[in-house]
Amino acid sequence: MLRSVFANRAALRPVGYRFYSAASSAVSREAELRRAIDEKRAAAVLGGGPKRIATQHSKGKLTARERISLLLDESSFRETDAFVEHQCVDFGMADQKITGDGVVTGSGTINGRLVYVFSQDFTAFGGSLSKTHAQKICKIMDQALLVGAPVIGLNDSGGARIQEGVDSLAGYADIFQRNVMASGVIPQLSLIMGPCAGGAVYSPALTDFTFMVRDSSYLFVTGPDVVKAVTNEDVTQEELGGAKAHTTKSGVAHLAFDNDVEALSKLRQFVDFLPLSNRSQLPSRPTDDPVDRLDEALDHIVPADSTKAYDIKDVIARIVDEGDFFEVMPDFAKNMVVGFARLGGETVSIIANQPLVSSGVLDINSSVKAARWVRFCDAFNIPLLTFVDVPGFLPGTAQEHGGIIRHGAKLLYAYAEATVPKVTVITRKAYGGAYDVMSSKHLRGDVNYAWPTGEIAVMGAKGAVEIIFRQVPDKTQAEAEYVHKFANPLPAAQRGFVDDVINPSETRKRIIEDLRRLKSKDLKNPWKKHGNVPL
Ligand code: HXC
Repeated sequence: MLRSVFANRAALRPVGYRFYSAASSAVSREAELRRAIDEKRAAAVLGGGPKRIATQHSKGKLTARERISLLLDESSFRETDAFVEHQCVDFGMADQKITGDGVVTGSGTINGRLVYVFSQDFTAFGGSLSKTHAQKICKIMDQALLVGAPVIGLNDSGGARIQEGVDSLAGYADIFQRNVMASGVIPQLSLIMGPCAGGAVYSPALTDFTFMVRDSSYLFVTGPDVVKAVTNEDVTQEELGGAKAHTTKSGVAHLAFDNDVEALSKLRQFVDFLPLSNRSQLPSRPTDDPVDRLDEALDHIVPADSTKAYDIKDVIARIVDEGDFFEVMPDFAKNMVVGFARLGGETVSIIANQPLVSSGVLDINSSVKAARWVRFCDAFNIPLLTFVDVPGFLPGTAQEHGGIIRHGAKLLYAYAEATVPKVTVITRKAYGGAYDVMSSKHLRGDVNYAWPTGEIAVMGAKGAVEIIFRQVPDKTQAEAEYVHKFANPLPAAQRGFVDDVINPSETRKRIIEDLRRLKSKDLKNPWKKHGNVPL
């Protein structure tokens, strides 16, 4: 019996030995695989390698991963597609692979709220966009749209991966298509932190907001060399498409920051104002600022002389929670102020004429700036709070030939189409077509107030008497009569075009009450495929 057991054992030994040997080679294969995975992951973390990282740092720029770690809450980043490599074999590319392929993608949180992010890695093929690089970006855009969370793009790229030809162009178009589908559904934000040239500029342009870093980022369709060849113009990259050009002249970018760290920290603050999607609640933040706080300084903030200027930002700061106003496009069309604030803890969108700059007149740039802003806020259910002090539309050939009719109509369209709660405060002038445009009662304003300093009429007294008393040599008497009759809020109040004339000091309290009452507002526009906004 014993013998037979031993015999059996002996018989089994070679089999067991073989088994043991196979198991041990499986273990070593697994260990090898794990090592290979770890090596790839480490390679992905290094991107284009220490030398290129040092070059990136020497330009005052952070790496793609450093940027993500500053943007997102600590340890919240979950990377996708770290192992992706390009599939190109032309121009010796088969031997040149950088794990991750020049873009770091994934999701994480900003102050606990979900966002999706891609961060182009300039150290890997200059952050240029290959087919696989584009696929990584598209994957997180699709996911963000599915779950309803913002997409943030940190752009730092030499453009289309030249070795990949049309595959790279296809990749761009795949992103553009997704930008358009996501528009109005999830907020899309672009932070330009390096080059962004050629057709690559159109993805940021399709997103809701474009921020830039001064002196290290630029956006242009064609660079200085092509400009020189075509127009014989000498221009630097910075002059042509740097942060200053785009935040002061073109209006392509909304904000500029001094460096990567400042830009990422401000972007975090900005995201705090936004809902995650068009289906999400507005974010709210507890505040110690009493909702019924009165501010008597507001009763004297508008100068008695109606030709004198005052700063509408002082008015805004005195009304919103803790004086905290996040202005957007502060250096473009300064006669119009737009930005986010909170009232009673909830995000509100502010649109205001700025009497300090060109008397707050409406012109092409201010109309376009405010129109796009209003449409963004309406798409994401952010209530509109409008402060009106506007002498009218700016006259002149430059404006007429530049298309003020078409551009002014954009703002009119945006306000008229908006279905979010709309509260309007006329602090002083509301003249002519500009009165109608600036969230008037007639454009479905929910609550429209005037301060006692309000002047609501077809035009100012001087211009009016020039026309209606053309034949009268001394117009002093007529002008005084016109001022008495129209340069006050009563005619509009008597017609119900303003709901009430309020003490300026009570404005905060009144608006917060109104916004709370309007929370359940349910207004729908007639069904249509889409409207035809005058582009
Ligand atoms: C492949 C690129 C690249 C690109 C840069 N690199 N751009 N690789 N495709 N488009 C690589 C470089 O070969 C280099 O690799 C590394 O990135 C860093 O580039 P440098 O030139 O050394 O850096 P720098 O001096 O800072 O200059 C940056 C730059 C320049 C100004 C962006 O690289 C440049 O002009 N690149 C080409 C830009 C371009 O014309 N792109 C196509 C635009 S057309 P090594 O291995 O040396 O580190 C376009 C169409 C899109 O994008 C259309 C969409 C509809």
